[in-house]
Amino acid sequence: MKVDVLVIGAGAAGLMCAITAGQRGRQVLVIDHANKPGKKILMSGGGRCNFTNLGVTPAQYLSANPHFAKSALARYTPADFIALVEKHRIAYHEKELGQLFCDESSKLIVRVLLDECAAAGVRIETSCAVSQVRKSEEGFSVTTAKGVLHADALVVASGGLSIPSMGASGFGYELARQFGHNVLATRAGLVPLTLSGKHQEHYQDLAGVALPVAEARVGKRSFRAGLLFTHRGISGPSILQISSYWQPGDDLRIDLSPERELGQWLADQRAARPAAELRTVLGEQLPKRLAQRLCEQWLGSKPMRQYRDHELHALGAQLHDWPLVASGTEGYRTAEVTLGGVDTDGLSSSTMQSKRVPGLYFIGEVVDVTGWLGGYNFQWAWASGRAAGEAV
Ligand code: FDA
Repeated sequence: MKVDVLVIGAGAAGLMCAITAGQRGRQVLVIDHANKPGKKILMSGGGRCNFTNLGVTPAQYLSANPHFAKSALARYTPADFIALVEKHRIAYHEKELGQLFCDESSKLIVRVLLDECAAAGVRIETSCAVSQVRKSEEGFSVTTAKGVLHADALVVASGGLSIPSMGASGFGYELARQFGHNVLATRAGLVPLTLSGKHQEHYQDLAGVALPVAEARVGKRSFRAGLLFTHRGISGPSILQISSYWQPGDDLRIDLSPERELGQWLADQRAARPAAELRTVLGEQLPKRLAQRLCEQWLGSKPMRQYRDHELHALGAQLHDWPLVASGTEGYRTAEVTLGGVDTDGLSSSTMQSKRVPGLYFIGEVVDVTGWLGGYNFQWAWASGRAAGEAV
């Protein structure tokens, strides 16, 4: 069988590319080894799909080349995807920080994409694993579980390594290498961090304790959002965000009270209630169990009247700069995204086409472009899919 465009991967990027190419009159076939399309979309955003973010700019993406994503993101914006969602009368809302979610279910986003595919004449084959890809003068020959397919253009939209149980595979990276592309080292991103040794011992039974706002810092990068203690370490939006910037050995610091300066606050508390113990006073600013544990393991605790002014300011400074030693991440099993991937140096930033192999394209998460938490990764999938779909 011969088509104009063969897309490998019926996820966010692959479906958007297929729709765009189909609307241009190209004959498009999308294949996926999973048993249904859009599995990650279905599980995204806690089942409500955080499908874009109103504040998207290239600055919210990590890549060895921070300029690469600019062109595609500028040509397919959050407003474009919102228009598509509104065309299909899907109700949505802004949760916080520009994050847009479906009111009902992420199934509706998959529905939108499949309806658009059908309208554009796109065919989708699921449970279709690929065993071999070859390029000849006539185009690409792809050997699959359902026979050999021929195509003028081949779009690799097979995603990253996160959540292998959902069909994630290293296929796209292997294919890139096969055609001479450089693949940058991959690692889990937007992922909980683990603690080990003393830190794990001291804090593991705080699992479930949450801070509504903390600031996680690595070097000059910081994120202010919720923090959650888990059985093996720490999670919550501030930690997921910083995890993409953290590497083993990096110094991680947590500001446990970014919205209230604690040194002066503690001095005020001493004046108001000199007999109260530090751990009791801190328990009014931080979750009680955390305050107690920090006092037991780190700060000590005595009645407030026994602290001198400079000691309270020093305690405050410690709580704004807690050095928590992370030992690793929870890995691809729970990561939302994969950092690294197909080196953008080998791709055109306007079309996503390989500079080495005409007709070969890479889009979405398989490419070395990774967004922050909050709808940025889907926006990259839509934008890069659109860019390739306009060019194939
Ligand atoms: P995606 O992974 O979506 O699709 C790749 C497709 O290729 C899959 O269907 C897979 O089965 C197929 N495939 C893989 N190997 C293959 C092979 N060898 N042969 C054939 N097919 C193959 N982002 C966001 O912006 N907002 C959110 O709310 C969330 N929420 C979220 C929750 C969870 C739990 C996860 C794991 C991730 C998110 N994300 C997110 C991230 C987002 O899901 C991700 O960035 C996009 O799905 C990437 O889109 P792609 O199309 O590139 O890959």
